[in-house]
Amino acid sequence: MSDGPKTSRPTVLLSEEQIRRRVCELAAEIAGNHPETDELVCLGVLKGSVFFLVDLVRALPMPVAIDFVQTSSYGSASKPGEVSIKKDVDLSLAGRDVLVVEDVVDTGHTLARLLGLLRLREPRSLELCALLDKPDRREVEVTIDYLGFSIPDRFVVGYGLDHAEAYRNLPYIAVLEPDGAPR
Ligand code: IMP
Ligand code: MG
Repeated sequence: MSDGPKTSRPTVLLSEEQIRRRVCELAAEIAGNHPETDELVCLGVLKGSVFFLVDLVRALPMPVAIDFVQTSSYGSASKPGEVSIKKDVDLSLAGRDVLVVEDVVDTGHTLARLLGLLRLREPRSLELCALLDKPDRREVEVTIDYLGFSIPDRFVVGYGLDHAEAYRNLPYIAVLEPDGAPR
């Protein structure tokens, strides 16, 4: 029985359990690629990656340092995908192993720009771990070294992802319908 959108439960795209298991697998993959590192700098892209980052680092066996960067996009029709740094990294990245942790790679503009800027800081290694990828939306190429899930071109919320700052605290990932409610 359904009472319509107001009382129906959100339809889950990725459950808590699916996310939990995938995060552990990603951590094992990352650890396998960095057997020798004395420390991995995990750099979360605010705000969407926060839930993913805290779960991921707790599953990593090596010492980690944590830092955050925040971007804002101000693209327009004439200049699509313009991205600026709203909050810069506090730590020095030179000579260190850096893992950028992002919620979702959509058009790719944010990550392409951010990785370009971070490379200028001369880290020893620079990799990207993204929870979600929407390959159908890509406008610029981005190499995702560790990917949680590839998803269709739908707007999703939960587990850190928002719509106008709402829904971040859903423990799962849900598709947001055009009427603004997760289905
Ligand atoms: P890109 O520059 O187009 O790759 O956009 C990346 C940013 O857009 C992500 O870091 C998110 O903050 C936001 N974004 C893209 N798709 C979604 C979505 O489905 N739900 C919530 N935020 C999204
Ligand atoms: Mg983001």
